[in-house]
Amino acid sequence: MKILLLGSGGREHAFAWKMAQSPLCQKLYVAPGNAGTSQFGENVAIGVNDFAAIEKFVLDNRIDMVVVGPEDPLVNGIYDYFLANEALNKIPVIGPSKLGAQLEGSKAFSKVFMLKHGIPTAIYQEFSAHNLDAGLDYIDHQTPPIVLKADGLAAGKGVLICQTKEKAKAELREMIANAKFGKASSKVVIEQFLKGIEFSVFVLTDGINYKILPQAKDYKRIGEGDTGLNTGGMGCISPVPFVDAALMKKVEERVIIPTIEGLRKDRITYKGFIYIGFMQTELPNGTTEPFVIEYNCRMGDPETEIVFPRIKSDLVQHFVALAKGELQNEVIEIDPRAAATVIVASGGYPEDYQKGKEITGIDTVANSIVFHAGTKAEGGKVLTNGGRVLAVTSYGKTITEAVATSNAAIEKIDFEGKYYRRDIGFEFK
Ligand code: AMP
Ligand code: GLY
Repeated sequence: MKILLLGSGGREHAFAWKMAQSPLCQKLYVAPGNAGTSQFGENVAIGVNDFAAIEKFVLDNRIDMVVVGPEDPLVNGIYDYFLANEALNKIPVIGPSKLGAQLEGSKAFSKVFMLKHGIPTAIYQEFSAHNLDAGLDYIDHQTPPIVLKADGLAAGKGVLICQTKEKAKAELREMIANAKFGKASSKVVIEQFLKGIEFSVFVLTDGINYKILPQAKDYKRIGEGDTGLNTGGMGCISPVPFVDAALMKKVEERVIIPTIEGLRKDRITYKGFIYIGFMQTELPNGTTEPFVIEYNCRMGDPETEIVFPRIKSDLVQHFVALAKGELQNEVIEIDPRAAATVIVASGGYPEDYQKGKEITGIDTVANSIVFHAGTKAEGGKVLTNGGRVLAVTSYGKTITEAVATSNAAIEKIDFEGKYYRRDIGFEFK
């Protein structure tokens, strides 16, 4: 098969690395890709939202399958674009329909979906310009912290946790009246703050059948000990020590099954990944229960860089079955070893940082997998080209051992301003 993968981050390097291992994958193209994906496929200079250019490339190169990494093209309707075109509609797109992608593309849509299908999530209300005053009044009746979420995609920045009612009211006005996040915050979800520990579960579904992939916990803050600004993710671990069989049973029965049945009942076409972010929430009676924080309509980044290395079976074969609606026959084989991914970032990230720094030492790493996140190849060198530069994944008998191996690998890699968190997995030592 000839496969076109869309995206250019560490997630896509992990997709390329995994798919290239499949005997079913004869040729892989990555649009636009990075310096890592080019080791496994041919990078092509097409943007992920340029559907007309993607269409032409797919037809000119007789592509057999399109795999979508990031959320943007999914929310913009790439699945439906292919379906509506006679020349393209037999070519499977691995990813949900435009409506399915609304699980991530609209917080209000996903809250309505969860409420309708009885899926545990924080209680909420949605507000926009026509009822801004009601929103301010609603805030007055809440107990801080108060969680405000821009309805639409806001590059991971659209969630604000406000410690006072005054701050929440000011932010609500900023979001709705002053378009703080552009169109994405013309509608805002205000929800109850959930206290607890987060973890993530990944599901592959053909809309009827589903398979649960390895779980992960990511570390979003820039600083050690979970301090400082939020980032796209500074590292992750898998499996997650407290996510045992009993908790996974609750996750499956209360969330995964109702989600898949909800998609079917609502006639939402969904052939792709669902990334479910959970809060293992502390309830007033002292017990803890899993609540859904969010859905994403794609795999995570850096979570893909840990989840795929823990899958031993053939991902492309799973995609072929998924496209046919036959996922039930697939067996996802999981590597029992623990794994850790540590992100190497540019100094200054997630605020201003410099690009174009030469990276050395990647080829000296023997015991870890180095995925490229923000890199580019130029004049025989690999240069930094983003805030998150590399994702270094290692296996171990324990999480601690896997993290130590990744950290040792990162010590062999160098570029000006290199920064990483040495404490990934710190709570589980
Ligand atoms: P999201 O963009 O929905 O993933 O939210 C970003 C982050 O905000 C999450 O990973 C959580 O850490 C936090 N968050 C979102 N919703 C809540 C909530 N209801 N209670 C507490 N924290 C939340
Ligand atoms: N690491 C968080 C995400 O991919 O959304």
